[in-house]
Amino acid sequence: MLTSNVQRETQLTLKRLLPRVERELADCIAADASGWEVFGVRLQKHFPTLFELYAGLYGRRYDFFFHLEDLLISLARSWFARPNDLRTLDKAREMNPVWFQSNQMLGGVCYVDLFAGDLEGVRSKIPYFKELGLTYLHLMPLFKAPDGENDGGYAVSSYRDVHPPLGTMEQLASLAGDLRSAGISLVVDLVFNHTSDEHIWAQHAKAGDEEYADFYRIFPNREIPDLYEQNLREIFPDEHAGAFTFLPDLFPSPISEVNGGKARDGGDGWVWTTFHSYQWDLNYANPAVFNRMAEEMLFLANQGVEVIRLDAVAFIWKEMGTSCENLAQAHQLIRAFNAVSRIASPALLFKSEAIVHPDDVVKYIDPNECQLSYNPLLMALLWSTLATREVNLLAQALSARFKIHPGTAWVNYVRVHDDIGWTFSDDDATKFGINGYDHRRFLNEFFRGRHDGSFARGLPFQENPKTGDCRISGTCASLAGLEKAIKEEGPDEVELAIRRILLIHGVILTAGGIPLIYLGDEIGTLNDYTYRDDPDHERDSRWVHRPRADLQAYAKRNDPAAIEGRVYQGLQKMIAVRKGYDAFSGGILEVIPTENAHVLGFVRTHAGKRAVVLANFSDSAQSIPRRVFEQYAVHVDHNLYGDSRNLNQEGITTRVVIEPLAFLVFGN
Ligand code: GLC
Repeated sequence: MLTSNVQRETQLTLKRLLPRVERELADCIAADASGWEVFGVRLQKHFPTLFELYAGLYGRRYDFFFHLEDLLISLARSWFARPNDLRTLDKAREMNPVWFQSNQMLGGVCYVDLFAGDLEGVRSKIPYFKELGLTYLHLMPLFKAPDGENDGGYAVSSYRDVHPPLGTMEQLASLAGDLRSAGISLVVDLVFNHTSDEHIWAQHAKAGDEEYADFYRIFPNREIPDLYEQNLREIFPDEHAGAFTFLPDLFPSPISEVNGGKARDGGDGWVWTTFHSYQWDLNYANPAVFNRMAEEMLFLANQGVEVIRLDAVAFIWKEMGTSCENLAQAHQLIRAFNAVSRIASPALLFKSEAIVHPDDVVKYIDPNECQLSYNPLLMALLWSTLATREVNLLAQALSARFKIHPGTAWVNYVRVHDDIGWTFSDDDATKFGINGYDHRRFLNEFFRGRHDGSFARGLPFQENPKTGDCRISGTCASLAGLEKAIKEEGPDEVELAIRRILLIHGVILTAGGIPLIYLGDEIGTLNDYTYRDDPDHERDSRWVHRPRADLQAYAKRNDPAAIEGRVYQGLQKMIAVRKGYDAFSGGILEVIPTENAHVLGFVRTHAGKRAVVLANFSDSAQSIPRRVFEQYAVHVDHNLYGDSRNLNQEGITTRVVIEPLAFLVFGN
C-alpha cells in the first residue's frame, strides 16, 4: 500500500509530467481525442504502481525524471499506434481477465520454418490448428537473428523485423489477425535477458558509443567478472565457461570507463553472456534499457501479439555477491513492465519462463507480474514418475505446489524446444527418502537409455564435467519408449510407449491451466539425429527434438492402424473430454490418496462439476478400492475417458482395476 505521502508525490509527479507529454504529442491527441481519454483513465489507474516500481529501481539516479518522462511519452505514442481491433480486445480482456482459465484453452508451440516453412505457411496451417483444437499458438522466435548459429532465434537482432526467410512484420501482423479470427491467440517471445551481438544497440556499443555500451555489462578486464563469478551458475558450460565472453579489440579505440570499470589502455572487453557468447545480457540497471525494451514489447503487442513469453526471466537483474538469479529486482522489473502493459496494451499477458527451483518459479506468478507460467516441475516429475513408476513425488508436488493465485494459470507441458532439467526440490524428495543428487543422476542415466530397463532414447545436454551434471534432450515419443520399441522391440512395447505418451498428455490436459502441446508430439514424432550433420547445430543436442514437420507422417494422423493415428486419435479423444466437461476449467485440484503407489489420482471441481482423474504409471495392471470413488462422489460407471474393470465380490464392486499405463476420467 502506498502511504498518503507517496500517493501525494505520485499525483504531483503525474501532474507535472502530463502537460509535457501533452505538448509532445499534441498532434496525436488532436487526431484521437477519445483515444487519449481512454489512455488517461488507464494511466491514472496504473501510474501509481508503475511509479513506485520505477522509482524503486531507478529513483536514486540524477536523471530519473528524464527517463520517466521519456517512458510516458513512449507509452502514449504506442497507444496512439494501437489498432482499433486491439483496443476493442483490450476492453474485452479487462472485462474478463481470467479468460485463459477456460477448459476450451489448448496451446501449441512450433518453429515457423520447421513446421511450415514461413509465415504464409503458418497461415495455411490454420485449418489444422482448428482441427487440433488450438486456441493459443506460440511461434518460436521469428525475429531477425544472425545467420548461422542463433540459438534457434533466441539471439534477437531486431524486434522490428521478422527474420527475412520467414516473412515480414506486415505478414506477422496479418497472421495475428487471422489467428484471432480463428479463435487462436498469438504468443511470441520477448527475449528479455539479452540481444544478439548484431543488435543495433550492440553495434553502437562496439563502435565505442558509451551510451550504448551501458546497455550491456562490459568490463575492461577480469577483475569484476571474477568477483561476480564466485557466485554464478554456469548455464551453457559446453559453449563457454563462466558467464562472460572475452572480445579482444571489442572497441575500436580505448575508452576509459565502462560500467564502473577501471581506466585501461586496450580496447578489449569482457561481455556478460549468460547463454551463448553471441547473446549479450542487457543491463536493466540502466533505465534507458527499460524504456527501449518496453517500446519493443508494446510494438509487438500492437502487431496483435496477445501473450509475451518472457524468456530467461530469472537472470535479468545482477547484483554482486549474489547468484544473480531470481533477485527481488527481477520481480520489480517484470511488475513494472506489467504496469506498462496495463496502461498501453491491456490485452497483453505475460508468461514466465523460469526453469528454476519450484520455490522460485511461483514467485513470478501473480496477476500483477506474470499471469501465466510454465510448470517445469510438473513436466520434470511426469518424466521422473514414468521412470520410477512411483507417484509419491508427483502427488506431493501437485498437492503442495500446484495451487497458485486464482487470477493466474499454469502452462502445463510435457516437452518443449528445450532440454529437461530436473528442477524438483531436494527437500521434497528427502521426505520420501530420495536423495536429490542421486535421483538426478538416475534420471539422466535412465533417459539416456543407459539404465537397465530403460525405455528412453534421450541425449545429454550441457554435460558439465566439473559437476557431473547434465540435462536431457529428446522428443516426447523417443523419451517415452517409442523409438526403442519400433527399432528394437515389437508391437507390445509400441503399445506401452503410446500409452505413456497419452498418459502424460492426459495429466496436462486435465490438471488445470493451459495445456501446451509441442507440435509434432501429437503424432509421436521421434528424435531426428541429422542435426549432427549441421555445423550450426551439431554442438547443441536440443536440435534432436526440433525436426522438420513430416508431412507424410501428418497425413497418417487419422489412420487408426498407423502409430501416428493411434497417438493423434488418442489425444483428440482426451482433448474432447477436456473441452466437453466444465470441471476442467479453472485451477482447483485436489490430490486423491489412491492407496496405490503407482496410481496418481486427483479431483477437479469447477462450477458444480466434478471429475476424478486416475493415472496408472505402472507397466502392470493396478487396482484401487471402490470407496475412493464414493468418497469423491463420482460414479464408477460414469466413465468419461478410458476403460476400467470392476472387481466384484458377491455381486458388489469392491475394487476398480486400471490397465497398465492407463488414464481414466470419471464424472459426477
Ligand atoms: C530460454 C530458451 C532457450 C534459450 C535461452 C537463451 O531458456 O527457452 O531455448 O537457449 O532462453 O535465450
